[in-house]
Amino acid sequence: MLNVIIFGPPGSGKGTQGVKIAEKYGLAHVSTGDLLRKEIETNTHFGTIVKGYIDKGELVPDATIIEILDSYVDKLPVGQGIIFDGFPRTVEQAQSLMNMMAEHNAQISILVDLEVERQELIDRIVLRGKTSGRSDDNAETVEKRLAVYDEKTKPAVDFFDNLKLYKKIDGNGTIDEIFGRLCDAIDAVK
Ligand code: AP5
Ligand code: MG
Repeated sequence: MLNVIIFGPPGSGKGTQGVKIAEKYGLAHVSTGDLLRKEIETNTHFGTIVKGYIDKGELVPDATIIEILDSYVDKLPVGQGIIFDGFPRTVEQAQSLMNMMAEHNAQISILVDLEVERQELIDRIVLRGKTSGRSDDNAETVEKRLAVYDEKTKPAVDFFDNLKLYKKIDGNGTIDEIFGRLCDAIDAVK
């Protein structure tokens, strides 16, 4: 069973590429950002808790996101491979994910990390903000999201590097070029 983590800073293309990888390899695309936005849209208990964090570009507390992810993954068919997009985002989340995988007798196959220059990330997100309606797609909140990424999320790289699951991918270029690089990396561990 293939289980992929697509990793990288805000705007690096995790969602764009995650959808394409899910389709090609028959994986469930699990985006924690999308799950959280759905909680907010439908006014659930979790939605009211997480809205303030997302609006400010801060991370939702580990315990909350782990609970949401856990319950989502539990509903997937047994043996369904997954592409995780936007999770894990802290070392604690990484540890939880490995425990969750072990409980399901599953393993992470690879983490692919999309590397994109900072200004390009900002440009992509500010451009998307014109039409996305996302409360965090503006120049000010992007700065905060990038700072949070550097401080809290990047340390998870070492966690996966130590497990020999880490693969850096050039995230610049056209969507198809980047997709080709990602597929080469995934095919090498399949
Ligand atoms: P989340 O929704 O995960 O947002 P993000 O990681 O900040 O990243 P984005 O979704 O903005 O970017 P992406 O990498 O998916 O790129 P995309 O393909 O969209 O998280 C939002 C918030 O939720 C967090 O800040 C946090 O509050 C909370 N949260 C989520 N998960 C959490 C967790 N695990 N723990 C705690 N809190 C959590 O592309 C970006 C844009 O660029 C698009 O417009 C796209 O069309 C365009 N684009 C894509 N590829 C290219 C290309 N090659 N060339 C030009 N443009 C491109
Ligand atoms: Mg995304």
